[in-house]
Amino acid sequence: MAAKWTPESWREHKGIQMPSYRDAEALAAVEGQLSQFPPLVFAGEARNLKHDLAKVANGEAFLLQGGDCAESFAEFHPNNIRDTFRVLLQMAVVLTFASKLPIVKVGRMAGQFAKPRSADTETIGGVELPSYRGDNVNDIAFTPEAREPDAQRMIRAYNQSAATLNLLRAFSTGGYASLDRVHGWMLDFMGRSPWAAKFDAMADQIGQALDFMRACGLSPDTVPQLGGTSFYTSHEALLLPYEQALTRQDSLTGDWYDTSAHMVWIGDRTRFEGSAHIEYLRGIGNPIGMKCGPSLEPDALIRLLDILNPSREAGRITLISRYGHDKIEAGLPKLVRAVMKEGHPVVWSCDPMHGNVIKAANGYKTRPFDRILAEVRGFFAVHRAEGSFGGGIHAEMTGQNVTECTGGAIAITDEGLADRYHTHCDPRLNAAQSLELAFLLAEMLNEELKERRAAA
Ligand code: PEP
Ligand code: CO
Repeated sequence: MAAKWTPESWREHKGIQMPSYRDAEALAAVEGQLSQFPPLVFAGEARNLKHDLAKVANGEAFLLQGGDCAESFAEFHPNNIRDTFRVLLQMAVVLTFASKLPIVKVGRMAGQFAKPRSADTETIGGVELPSYRGDNVNDIAFTPEAREPDAQRMIRAYNQSAATLNLLRAFSTGGYASLDRVHGWMLDFMGRSPWAAKFDAMADQIGQALDFMRACGLSPDTVPQLGGTSFYTSHEALLLPYEQALTRQDSLTGDWYDTSAHMVWIGDRTRFEGSAHIEYLRGIGNPIGMKCGPSLEPDALIRLLDILNPSREAGRITLISRYGHDKIEAGLPKLVRAVMKEGHPVVWSCDPMHGNVIKAANGYKTRPFDRILAEVRGFFAVHRAEGSFGGGIHAEMTGQNVTECTGGAIAITDEGLADRYHTHCDPRLNAAQSLELAFLLAEMLNEELKERRAAA
């Protein structure tokens, strides 16, 4: 029998990848303040997302999760929020058309401010300083003052999350997200992409479907669903003092929810048995993601699932595999088999980003588009072979025209990376690369679903 859970029981467990604040009083004051702030999301919304994800677990919907590796105070601008949202919607339309399934849209937005790091310190020119851990912990500038953890940053992260979420809510329900508009943006993309010919047929069919619907009298005026969409937020629940302060008891059910986002996930470095992060997540009612990398053994995964989802509720757990293009086909099958054997209902999602980071000759951290695609292909191959449903994609991307990942239709070269390399952490797909990924993914999904339907 597990010990009693409380919003702060994680403090009795091994907490790694979190800062130690020098000023304990300042930290306590910030925690107290945050705990009085309004929740950012409601329990009922988190339950709606869980319900949507249960459909994904059953093979009746597909999950699209994406956004920044790390949101930053410096990049906080309505245009950045709008552009990332817009690309996610475009990707969703392409995926809906190919799969004929509803797409569950979840942003890595409005709260993705804390980063786990592979090393505690960074050395430049013989000077060693604490690593940058995301804007709600410290500052990216390479000075001792900037790298000192500052609890006040959590207040700023909360405020930026609230404003971002407010805009996302307005975009998703206020007419901006209407299907006609999204299709217009896609035509604009097609006009500029060197791969337009490759995607032409599908874009044309989507246009025809919309024309047909309009002719039948189905428009945002007559069918409100066509004029808006549901959109959820997510981030890694890493900085537990922040998450705890936003953990609230739902007055309807008496259950606890992390109200900082609809969905939160646990990273590949903090998901070990007995960790503070597992302890925190087991007690909240939100849907939870868990990153699964090469070091995760099937037995350990099953024990974690038993802790996080003892009642085996569908939609509660999304397993986000992130092996690397050359490791997924050897590594993932054993996890899939164990989960299927135990009968744990999960969403299987593919993060083709975190196992495919390389260093370009000129020192930039990058991800080749071909490797990202190869991991997605490997992911579907594994699920097809195992008879499970590959039900989601998890991408680090932005609506901006950055040059952080190499390759794509307008092939970004190693030399080109320097042009617009803006990320605060890992390299992101830019707007065009994201949409290209969606089209290529759509082709794969189409194949997968054709086979599934033929076999059914
Ligand atoms: C991330 O998603 O930004 C991340 C750090 O991933 P992982 O925990 O899989 O390395
Ligand atoms: Co990342």
